[in-house]
Amino acid sequence: MILSKWLPALLGGALAAQCALAITLNVDDENSLKSAAKTVAVDMMNYYNDRESKAIPGKLDGTWWEGGSMFMILIQYWFLTGDSQFNSAVQDGMYWQQGDDNFFPANYSQYLGNDDQVFWGLAAITAAELNYPERSGQPSWVSLAQGVFNTQVPRWDTSSCHGGMRWQIWPYQPGYTTKNAISNGGLFQLAARLALYTNNATYATWAERIWDWSASTPLLRKTWVIADTTSSESQCTDHGDYQWSYNYATYISGAAYMYNYTNGTQKWLEGIDGLVGTSSQFYPTSSTFGNANGNILSEITCEPILKCDRNQVTFKAYFSSWLAFMTLIVPGTSDLVMPKLKTSATAAALTCTGLSDGSHCGTKWYTQSWDGTDSLENQMAVLGVLNANLVPFKNKAPFTADTGGTSKSNPSAGTNSSDVEAPQLNTVRTGDRAGAGILTVVFVTGWAVAITWMVRGG
Ligand SMILES: *[C@@H]1O[C@H](CO)[C@@H](O)[C@H](O)[C@H]1NC(C)=O
Ligand SMILES: *[C@@H]1O[C@H](CO)[C@@H](O)[C@H](O)[C@H]1NC(C)=O
Ligand SMILES: *[C@@H]1O[C@H](CO)[C@@H](O)[C@H](O)[C@H]1NC(C)=O
Ligand SMILES: *[C@@H]1O[C@H](CO)[C@@H](O)[C@H](O)[C@H]1NC(C)=O
Ligand SMILES: *[C@@H]1O[C@H](CO)[C@@H](O)[C@H](O)[C@H]1NC(C)=O
Repeated sequence: MILSKWLPALLGGALAAQCALAITLNVDDENSLKSAAKTVAVDMMNYYNDRESKAIPGKLDGTWWEGGSMFMILIQYWFLTGDSQFNSAVQDGMYWQQGDDNFFPANYSQYLGNDDQVFWGLAAITAAELNYPERSGQPSWVSLAQGVFNTQVPRWDTSSCHGGMRWQIWPYQPGYTTKNAISNGGLFQLAARLALYTNNATYATWAERIWDWSASTPLLRKTWVIADTTSSESQCTDHGDYQWSYNYATYISGAAYMYNYTNGTQKWLEGIDGLVGTSSQFYPTSSTFGNANGNILSEITCEPILKCDRNQVTFKAYFSSWLAFMTLIVPGTSDLVMPKLKTSATAAALTCTGLSDGSHCGTKWYTQSWDGTDSLENQMAVLGVLNANLVPFKNKAPFTADTGGTSKSNPSAGTNSSDVEAPQLNTVRTGDRAGAGILTVVFVTGWAVAITWMVRGG
C-alpha cells in the first residue's frame, strides 16, 4: 500500500536524478558555461557549508589559505555570471579573516607562510578590480590588499641571497630558510596589480624588484623554467624543481599587469611569452596521461602518480583563471592561451558525474570521466577553468581607480599593527631562566608538530 502510493513519486525522483546527471557543457555558449559553473559552485559551497569549522567564517577545516583562494574564485564567478548567491558568505569570510586590515589574523598568524597570506591579498585585489560589493563600515578591498603588501614588504630578506621572500615567516617554522616561487611570485603579482589599480609607482618598483631578484635565482631561470624552491643556506643556488602550474601562472599574471601598467614594455612581454611557452608542459601528451592530446590541463607532477594533496588539486583554478584574465590586458595573448583552456574545460566538465547527485567533479581532467575522487578542491579547480572560459564572453578588463574602480586606496593600511614583529613564544620572568630553555624547546617542538601537520594539511 505504502509502496504503491509512493512508487510514482520515487520513480519520478529517480528520473529527475537521472536527468540531472553530469554537466552538459558547450564551451562556445555563455549560458551553458554559466549553468555548468553554477552547478560546480553549488557543490563546492555545499562542502563549505558542511564543514566542521563552520562557526568561523572563512576558515576551512585543516587549512586557512584555501579560504582566500576559494573566495578569489567565487569573486570571479560573481563578476562573470552575475550570480550573487554566494556573496554574503564571501563577504562574511573575507571580513572575518581580515586581521588588522592585512589578512594576518592572530588565530593563525603564528604558523602562516607568506604564500598563505598573499592569497587572501590576491582575493582582495580581485574584489577591488571587479567592483565586488563592499560593506559599509569595513575596510575597502583595495586597502586590504595594500595591508597584505605593507606587512609583507618589511619581510623582504636581504640577509641571504641579496633579497627574496622567505616561504615561512617565523624562524621556528620549518621552511623559514626556504625561498620559494609562490611566495615571491605571489607578492610580485600583488604588487603589479596594486600598481595598475592605484597607479602608484611604488608598487611597480617592488614588482620589478621581486621579478629581477627571482631572475637572479633558479626561481626564474633564463630558460623560463621555474624552480619551486631554493634555500638561504645555498645563497639561493640550489633548487627544488617540482613543476607546479600555479608558480608559472603567478609570474605570468604579474608580468601581464606590469605589461599593461608600463604601457607595453617589451621586458614583460618577453616574460609572458617565455613562461607561457614553458607552461605547455602542463598540457601533456604521453601514455602516462591517458594519451591526452596535449590540450588538457594537468597538474603533471602529482596527477599521474595519484599524489596530489588538497593544495595541489586547486592549482589549475589559478592557472586557468589568471591566464584568461591576462588576455584582457595584454592584447594578442588570447590565441596563445584560450584554445587549450577551452578543451580543458570540456574535459573537466566530463569528469563531473560523481556521487549521488551525479555532478561532483574528479581531479584528473585528462581521464575525461569521473576518477572516483571528490572534494571542495576538485570543485574549485573546475570552477576556475569555467570562469576562464567566461572571461572572453564578459570581455570586461579589470577596473582600475582611473577606469571606474570604486574601491578606495589606503596606502598605509595594515601598518598599525604588531604583526611585523615575531610573536613572543613565552614570557620569561627573572628567576625562571634555568627552565626557560627547556620550556622553549618543548614549546617549539609542539609548534613543529603542529606546523608539520599544517604544511601537509595546507
Ligand atoms: C579565532 O578563534 C576563536 C575561537 O575558536 C573563534 O571564535 C574566532 O572566530 C576565530 N577568529 C578567526 C579570525 O578565525
Ligand atoms: C602610460 O601612459 C599614460 C598615458 O599616456 C601615462 O599617463 C602613464 O604615465 C604611462 N605609464 C607609465 C608607467 O609610463
Ligand atoms: C591595458 O588594458 C586595457 C584594458 O583595460 C587595454 O585597453 C589596453 O590596450 C592595455 N594596454 C596595453 C599597453 O596593452
Ligand atoms: C604610494 O604607495 C606608497 C607605499 O605604500 C605610499 O607610501 C605612498 O604614500 C603612496 N603614494 C600615494 C600618492 O598614494
Ligand atoms: C592603532 O592601534 C592603536 C593600538 O591598538 C589604536 O589605539 C589606534 O586607534 C589604531 N589606529 C588606527 C588608525 O587604526
